[in-house]
Amino acid sequence: ESGGTVLVRGVTYKKDPAWFNVPSNVLDATSRRLHLQKDHPVHITRQIIEANFPQPTYKYHNDYHPVVSTHQNFDSLGFPPNHPGRALTDTYYINDKTLLRTHTSAHQADVFRANESDGYLISADVYRRDAIDRSHYPVFHQMEGARSWDRNRVPGGAVAAAVRADLEKLPKHNVQVEDPNPPFHEERNPLQDCHSAAEAQAIGEHLKRSLECMVVDIFSRARTAALKGDPNFVDEPLRMRWVEAYFPFTSPSWELEVYYAGDWLEVLGCGVVRQSLYDNAGVPSQLGWAFGIGIDRIAMLLFNIPDIRLFWSQDHRFLSQFEGVSDRLDTLKRFAPFSKYPPCPKDVSFWLASTSTAGGNTMGNFHENDVMEIVRSVAGDVVEDVRLIDEFTHPKTGRRSMAYRIVYRSLERTLTNEEAKTFHEGVRDALVKKLGVELR
Ligand code: PHE
Repeated sequence: ESGGTVLVRGVTYKKDPAWFNVPSNVLDATSRRLHLQKDHPVHITRQIIEANFPQPTYKYHNDYHPVVSTHQNFDSLGFPPNHPGRALTDTYYINDKTLLRTHTSAHQADVFRANESDGYLISADVYRRDAIDRSHYPVFHQMEGARSWDRNRVPGGAVAAAVRADLEKLPKHNVQVEDPNPPFHEERNPLQDCHSAAEAQAIGEHLKRSLECMVVDIFSRARTAALKGDPNFVDEPLRMRWVEAYFPFTSPSWELEVYYAGDWLEVLGCGVVRQSLYDNAGVPSQLGWAFGIGIDRIAMLLFNIPDIRLFWSQDHRFLSQFEGVSDRLDTLKRFAPFSKYPPCPKDVSFWLASTSTAGGNTMGNFHENDVMEIVRSVAGDVVEDVRLIDEFTHPKTGRRSMAYRIVYRSLERTLTNEEAKTFHEGVRDALVKKLGVELR
């Protein structure tokens, strides 16, 4: 990084100071490519997902550059101009037209245009400004998959019949799935004009079976590892359910949830690809489905990894536990936590620079993600959790006060109280300097 340019994974980009908001810890992460690092849990999880979408039907793309255009990330997918995901508070920008991809869907249109295979899988690092806790990190990994059929290559143009024939070839499973949803719903989850009911229904069934089988495979590997490694593991049958969803680039759309530790957990989003994507990619005779899944959270479940920061650790005590697994997926075992070091919680409260009216977590130009990023840029991976613990508006002055609890804890060693204090002082100073708040 220098002057008006920034280097991201070997490519130089022109920064616009009015837009550039990528902190150095995030910039450094762009060169890590954990999904390509042999024996890393993110790499192993990618391999397991790939095993469920075999070549040559599915072509794999694992090395797309993380910098994309606003067109690729948003416009090509039908995101409206005012979509909140486009905001500087949510997304890392290099300049007004260039950003760090927020999802692997940024490459959908380009892969459709290349038209090299019936299906594809993309795995990649993605970037989002977000909260700080044990399951959120500004950099994570996603996999995107799609399967298309071409009206011109199906005998008699009978797409529904061709999709059903392919459905018959898919593996089956015997896990309980709740799916109360109709194949499409006029208001909530509409059929596209260009699809017949039979086509959308067949594509939806092919999509659901393919994804259910993948999730069954992942969780049966997790179960095998748990039975081997944890005498206290409670062996319960896997339960899944489909819920209706919305994405600007699919319709109808769904999310797949898995019952895990007493809660329904969303594992992926998917749907029937909007025809405009195929049309704009120069392949108007195609139709099909797409899905996207976050790899890191799946890897945390698979290996029983308690903190997402561990993926970025270079500590031998972490990485050595997965040696050899990339070549022998059946040797997968659970992560054995090394000693847990004590937490150092510290609170900070401040008055917001008072200008405008409050609403949610924003006031004037205050956004909670800015607090998160300031803490992360001062304390790096030594911060485990940041949460709002108090918030009120002064009845007379109308000024708003916020209090956050920051938990400092290293994954690798015991922090002294002195060190935590130094980090906290740095955070307090940066909050004043960067957000103009008044400490209380
Ligand atoms: N890109 C979506 C997300 O990040 C997931 C998705 C991919 C949904 C493909 C539908 C189809 O949430």
